[in-house]
Amino acid sequence: MWVVREITRGKAKFARQLIKALPQWFVHDKANERYIRATHEQTLLAAGRDSDEVIGILSLRLGSESGAEIALLGVTPTYHRQGCGTALINSAEIMAGDRGYRYLFVETLPASEVSTVYDGTRKFYAGLGFDSLTRLVDYWGKGKDCLLMLKSIEAYPVSDKRRLVGVVGASRSPQTGAKRRKHPSR
Ligand SMILES: CC(C)(COP(=O)(O)OP(=O)(O)OC[C@H]1O[C@@H](n2cnc3c(N)ncnc32)[C@H](O)[C@@H]1OP(=O)(O)O)[C@@H](O)C(=O)NCCC(=O)NCCS
Repeated sequence: MWVVREITRGKAKFARQLIKALPQWFVHDKANERYIRATHEQTLLAAGRDSDEVIGILSLRLGSESGAEIALLGVTPTYHRQGCGTALINSAEIMAGDRGYRYLFVETLPASEVSTVYDGTRKFYAGLGFDSLTRLVDYWGKGKDCLLMLKSIEAYPVSDKRRLVGVVGASRSPQTGAKRRKHPSR
């Protein structure tokens, strides 16, 4: 059972802790600093076994377009494959859908002969309904491609939203207290 909540203070600290715990995935110091800094402008969800613990985080960029971006996602390695990442994605989907966004998307790494570390990451997203939309060649520099994965957000009726939050174990749904906002594209 995972408790997912929004964190508004100390966002950079939690982002730094998670990135540090996942050196195989987060290898570039400069990029890591950018991810950490960017959390100030983003919505940070944290998951733990209770409302004080932070085992995993997801930073969501809610811009003015119709897609909400998963800008940072990480779960402490000793807790992998225990549903924490799924709980975070489900909560992000509910939060973004509730605010009128139509898609969740993420920039990740495509299959490569150099590193297999992101194979599990892609399987994780695919299992949650993300499609591999396109490969952006040289996106992160020469020879460093990006895979854009996208999921269409369902328009859940209120009763289904409650059920979904119940399934992920969020005792406080992240959208609690959040103002409902109609997205300009809808
Ligand atoms: C990707 C990540 C967030 C997944 O978090 P998690 O809590 O381990 O994921 P879950 O337990 O919710 O996994 C749900 C399902 O996804 C799939 N999955 C997750 N990790 C997988 C892996 N390494 N290999 C294959 N499938 C995987 C499985 O189907 C899994 O269900 P199962 O364990 O019952 O088989 C976590 O592995 C992580 O922190 N990775 C490093 C950082 C990263 O890749 N961030 C994203 C950058 S774009």
